[in-house]
Amino acid sequence: MDARPIGIFDSGIGGLTVMAAIRQALPQERLLYFGDNAHMPYGARSLDEVRGFSLSICDALITQGCKLIVIACNTASAAALKDVRARWPDFPFVGMEPAVKPAVEHTHSGVVGVIATVATFQSDLYASVVERFSQGVEVLHQPCPGLVKQIEAGELDTLRTEQMLRGWLEPMLARGIDALVLGCTHYPIVRPLIERIVGAGVRVIDPAPAVARQVARVLKEKAKDAADSATGSVEVFTSGEPARFEAMMERMGLPHDRVAQALWTDGALRFER
Ligand code: DGL
Repeated sequence: MDARPIGIFDSGIGGLTVMAAIRQALPQERLLYFGDNAHMPYGARSLDEVRGFSLSICDALITQGCKLIVIACNTASAAALKDVRARWPDFPFVGMEPAVKPAVEHTHSGVVGVIATVATFQSDLYASVVERFSQGVEVLHQPCPGLVKQIEAGELDTLRTEQMLRGWLEPMLARGIDALVLGCTHYPIVRPLIERIVGAGVRVIDPAPAVARQVARVLKEKAKDAADSATGSVEVFTSGEPARFEAMMERMGLPHDRVAQALWTDGALRFER
């Protein structure tokens, strides 16, 4: 039994969609969440830069006593998962990868779509997922520049967000997709709008529940899970504005305590308690 927290991070509020799934699957666990809003959006940055942030964040979460880290951001996973595993070989990390496999298993039309950030599509991780799992199915990929910022600004159901999404999704619909992978953890926050645009004939796939199951498996395997009788908790930090972050959590219907400040100084991250 291990009562230490699970560390979870993203560039902002996106990873909260993964945190919610982990909370549901593992209510007895303590969760420590960090949103790097000072550097958001990651998807418009170089993979090198995102790798640097991710290594420093993992360093800070390990110093905080975390027992496992979930990189709840596709862009950061694509940029840094290999590197964090190389730097801390005995420490368990769980990352995100675009859910091409379930999309390929589902499709009847033989065409599936993936939406993600520009940086994610530039990564070797994405190329390797498509190579391993596409099996003759056509995989269309569509970057959505600006969508993460739109979501962070709270524009979850505005005309502008709908127009942006239509511009990206309608061409994929015209090419016959019947499955759409949400390859960025921010995108499930606008899932109702996405579903309205693509209609009932397209299965929308969010890998968060599968990631939560993977976290549970790894904890069990390594005997690092909390006691079933333990009381879980959630502690949230942002390098942006805590009040804004709190307001977004509220809109997402996520129960929370006060969101606290985390600060970058000289490339190192510090949690203020
Ligand atoms: N949630 C991040 C992802 O999954 C968004 C990256 C960004 O900040 O652009 O890719």
